[in-house]
Amino acid sequence: MSYRHVSKEVLVGSITLGVVFVAGYFFGKRKSFRMSIVKSHTKGKDDPLMQYVLNHSLREHPVLQKLRLRTMEDSWNIMMVACEQAQFMANLARLIKAKKALEIGVYTGYNTLSMALALPEDGVVVACDISEEYTNIGKPFWKEAEVEKKIDLRIQPALKTLDDLLSSGQAETFDFAFIDADKVNYDMYYEKSLQLLRKGGIIAIDNVLWGGSVLNPSPNDASTVAIDKLNKKLHRDVRITLSMLTVGDGLTLAIKI
Ligand SMILES: C[S@@+](CC[C@H](N)C(=O)[O-])C[C@H]1O[C@@H](n2cnc3c(N)ncnc32)[C@H](O)[C@@H]1O
Ligand SMILES: *[C@@H]1O[C@H](CO)[C@@H](O)[C@H](O)[C@H]1NC(C)=O
Repeated sequence: MSYRHVSKEVLVGSITLGVVFVAGYFFGKRKSFRMSIVKSHTKGKDDPLMQYVLNHSLREHPVLQKLRLRTMEDSWNIMMVACEQAQFMANLARLIKAKKALEIGVYTGYNTLSMALALPEDGVVVACDISEEYTNIGKPFWKEAEVEKKIDLRIQPALKTLDDLLSSGQAETFDFAFIDADKVNYDMYYEKSLQLLRKGGIIAIDNVLWGGSVLNPSPNDASTVAIDKLNKKLHRDVRITLSMLTVGDGLTLAIKI
């Protein structure tokens, strides 16, 4: 059938279909950009490459594994640090021979346990959270792994704990800080952690991409605004060197100069 025998309706229909198809293709491409939380226990769960990464690198302490599986039973498990990220931060702590660490936002204590296992016998994790309900889930596992004496859990607003540490003369004595609590206070957690850290110490800041929302912060979304503001501030902060990693929901490493 030659072109001129094709009816006008069929032609218009085909062109419309073509446009829809091409638009769909590009929209599909756009959507394939990673813009949201990719943790091995959330969206990354069924990703074969993520499975490959875990299969070829995860060395999870048996009690950590138990705590992870227990946490998966909790409805807020999206808050849990990704196991691959916790292992990475434990390696960083070992690399800088960390003895004192801050955990700002504990939840069920997966990263707290991972950090405690990485620290030497005389090491300590000062663990800050306001929830006994969540942290009580983790406590028996800390005990089972025999590191509970390395964990100093303080149930009160993290800002209060950081102020207590500063006023008890512990400025410049910490080696590592993990900031992972309420986002609106992120800048304060960063400033106080920076004071508590020794030179060469590392601050790891979680959720710096916030599911992709930092690309287009809505003025009435306080968490996104706070994260985006801190990201911009860190970029030009001469007190640190930094890297922003696309692991999990985005992780910035700030190293105190
Ligand atoms: C994302 S979760 C922490 C996850 C944890 N780092 C892990 O390893 O799985 C955030 C935690 O911050 C706690 N939180 C919220 N506001 C806080 C505050 N003002 N002070 C201390 N903790 C707070 C919440 O109770 C919650 O347990
Ligand atoms: C990862 O390991 C699991 C369990 O051994 C296996 O079923 C799966 O095929 C592995 N996947 C990859 C991509 O290595």
